[in-house]
Amino acid sequence: MSSPPIRVSIVAPTFNEAHNVGELARRLGVVLDGMDWEVIFVDDNSPDGTAETVKALAAINPRVRCIRRVNRRGLSGACIEGILSSSAPIVAVMDADLQHDEAILPEMIGRIARGESDIVVGSRLVEGGSSEDGFTPARAFASNFAIRMAGLLVGSAVSDLTSGFFAIRRDLFEAMAPRLTTSGFKILLDVLATASPPLRASEVGYRFRSRLAGASKFDARAMSDFFGLLVHKATRGLVPPRFILFVLVGGSGVFVHLVALRFAMGFEHLSFGWSQGIATMVAMTWNFIVNNVLTYSDAKLRGWRALTGLLQFYAVCGIGAVANVGIAKWLFEMDNAWWLAAMAGILMGSVWNYAMSSLLVWRRAD
Ligand code: GDD
Ligand code: MN
Repeated sequence: MSSPPIRVSIVAPTFNEAHNVGELARRLGVVLDGMDWEVIFVDDNSPDGTAETVKALAAINPRVRCIRRVNRRGLSGACIEGILSSSAPIVAVMDADLQHDEAILPEMIGRIARGESDIVVGSRLVEGGSSEDGFTPARAFASNFAIRMAGLLVGSAVSDLTSGFFAIRRDLFEAMAPRLTTSGFKILLDVLATASPPLRASEVGYRFRSRLAGASKFDARAMSDFFGLLVHKATRGLVPPRFILFVLVGGSGVFVHLVALRFAMGFEHLSFGWSQGIATMVAMTWNFIVNNVLTYSDAKLRGWRALTGLLQFYAVCGIGAVANVGIAKWLFEMDNAWWLAAMAGILMGSVWNYAMSSLLVWRRAD
């Protein structure tokens, strides 16, 4: 007597992946043999005709499904819609570009089916994990630092927090779905931060492959996301007022910083480095307090929560500073004007601080 096959949906977001979807479906058929599986491609109306390609596949393979979204973009939102369209008890999210190694799916799915974990993350950072595309030491450091700090923030056992490769119990996901953010690339971090009680998480290492066909949307998107957020939305009057407020508060923080620095340097035995450090803490504290009463007045933190919120805010700003310096340095090395590089860095840092403060410190979706 054998138990019924495991039911699982694989959700693969796509944007211009027409050349990869057929191969992914074929590989899934190999590794998921013996399971009752389906793959749901969630396509944001790709100009290369990915949706038509998927529908042609679906016509001959009932395990293939397609959700075609129009007038919308966004990786997180696509993943959420794909998962919510499933009725299987287990769902897995993976990229459609063959960079995620499908060979570890049976282990990821198996751990959930056996009740060992609520969520299993495909990780480049645990044993057996790696990445074929090398980072420069500076970028690797910034990336690792950001991941580690984010890990402290969500208090999670997961090391690869930016992974887009994970399997999860659908009932747990359904419960938290209304509280998730639909924009951006940060769905895993969002899921781990939102779940309450926390998810029982584990990781499986895999080798992140280089892309064969098509181009990554990550670099171009990550940049345009940030600039677009300002320019594109500002022109339509859609910039969240909260973000404008957040930036204005940040501007006042620069002033507070300079005053505090001038004051600290008045003490003879304080070196410039110490003065600068003190001024930074004063400015961050100022920003937190003003944001707490002004920008996030509807979600104001009080008592102990205000104290832990302040510590989280320090951590978020710390990462924001690394992102700021990293992006500015990277652009400057690409032979750009120093002021352009600096502006891009500041913008990147501000958007990060805003997004993460909203997501983690004050927990607002807008
Ligand atoms: N539906 C939809 N809408 N899909 C999208 C969108 C979008 O706006 N943007 C990207 N995708 C799809 C791509 O077609 C691909 O299947 C997957 O999402 C990942 O996008 P890539 O552009 O290939 O991202 P990457 O390889 O640079 O980034 C990977 O690593 C990041 C860092 O670890 C992804 O796994 C990210 O999820 C991850 O954050
Ligand atoms: Mn990719």
